[in-house]
Amino acid sequence: MDRLLIEGGTPLRGEVLISGAKNSVLPVLAASLMGEDPLNIDNVPYLQDVVSFTQLLSGMNAKVTLGEKGRLRVDPSPLNHPHASYDIVRTMRASILVLGPLLARFGEATVSLPGGCAIGTRPVDMHLNGLKGMGAEIDVSDGYIHARAKRLCGTALKLPQPTVTGTENLMMAASLAKGETLIENAAREPEVEDLARCLVKMGACIEGAGSERIRIEGVDNLHGATHWVLPDRIEAATYLAAGCITGGCVRVNQVSPRFMGAVLHKLEECGANIESGEDFIELDMRGERPHALDICTAAYPGFPTDMQAQMMAISAVAQGASSITETIFENRFMHISELARMGAKIRVQGHTAIIEGVERLSGAPVMATDLRASACLILAGIAAEGETIVNRVYHIDRGYEHVEEKFRRLGARVQRLSEQVFA
Ligand code: EPU
Repeated sequence: MDRLLIEGGTPLRGEVLISGAKNSVLPVLAASLMGEDPLNIDNVPYLQDVVSFTQLLSGMNAKVTLGEKGRLRVDPSPLNHPHASYDIVRTMRASILVLGPLLARFGEATVSLPGGCAIGTRPVDMHLNGLKGMGAEIDVSDGYIHARAKRLCGTALKLPQPTVTGTENLMMAASLAKGETLIENAAREPEVEDLARCLVKMGACIEGAGSERIRIEGVDNLHGATHWVLPDRIEAATYLAAGCITGGCVRVNQVSPRFMGAVLHKLEECGANIESGEDFIELDMRGERPHALDICTAAYPGFPTDMQAQMMAISAVAQGASSITETIFENRFMHISELARMGAKIRVQGHTAIIEGVERLSGAPVMATDLRASACLILAGIAAEGETIVNRVYHIDRGYEHVEEKFRRLGARVQRLSEQVFA
């Protein structure tokens, strides 16, 4: 297992190019199964989750080809095995996204039931109930979801709470259903809207994606298309947070600032000067230490849970006391005990962490427990005095492309120790 060795204490300065969004490319890959001909996907980030997803598609006999400049081409026509095995699903919960497309396109699907993960129990009841509402017969046995439907029927669905992949699964299934489907209380994340854009290019009739009410008129078939994946707002925000925590000046390029309002607002509250244009954001801390902040995570357009851990690293060295409340996942505070090993002063009351900022963290060996917790620990290591070793960096490779190269471009002293080096 690789580790990252970080020598902290340097303010980050420079520019970084942001990759396509992990949480957009995965549903788009799932949508590729629904067409009659190939889907070309551009701006695909090279991430472990993308590799796993393409293995999932190849395992069903879809043909996946890697082209130039990050293009992936998926030809679903040879697909003859609508089955997602436990071996893949256990490594990547987003595999559940193939359930709706397979069922709608092939009339049947067998998908391993995802278990919980480090950040919470993460049930998929809303995915299953929505598909049942559209007429699917669903049986869960031997750890697998077995779903069947001759043809799904459009219906009115009201989600008990917004779910990102749940909304995506149902929107994809409804695109090939008979008649109209209305999804109310839908997730409004930009990645849902991006998926809808891709489906519309494939011939789907979808209105309202990006709002809480999505209307889908089912069509008989979908065709191939070319889609450019939207930039990763969480990756962009993570590099801006790195500028903030080190008192530096960081510019992120090829981004969509309009989807990042809640995070940019909090970074400004920390004392950052922020300028943005059509496709860039520049953050300048002018050498200052960040101010304390209060955050409560919420579904989009609220503050994203996927940035909670990174902001916790900032609050650990901020002037004054901060509070961070996590409302989306019940166990997304695993980074706290690792930050404490670096000298952070944090106490937890229920779903809220109270953080008393310290002037400096000190480097230490720490353990990453999930993707965003890894990002938090890298930020903490970059800001800390001395040497930090982040163990289990395979978590970060799931969601950050070329992570150490990008941090090094900004002047961070980050080095990957691969197994052979420290064995
Ligand atoms: N929920 C249910 N039942 C369901 C579905 C969700 O109770 O059937 C609950 C969840 O347990 C959670 C809440 O609803 O409390 C919202 O979860 P959601 O379904 O929106 O999460 P998700 O779709 O599984 C996606 C992202 C996550 C991100 C969340 C929240 C993808 C592939 N994953 O997960 O990304 O944290 O939305 O924004 O899009 C990450 O990138 O690090 C990551 C975990």
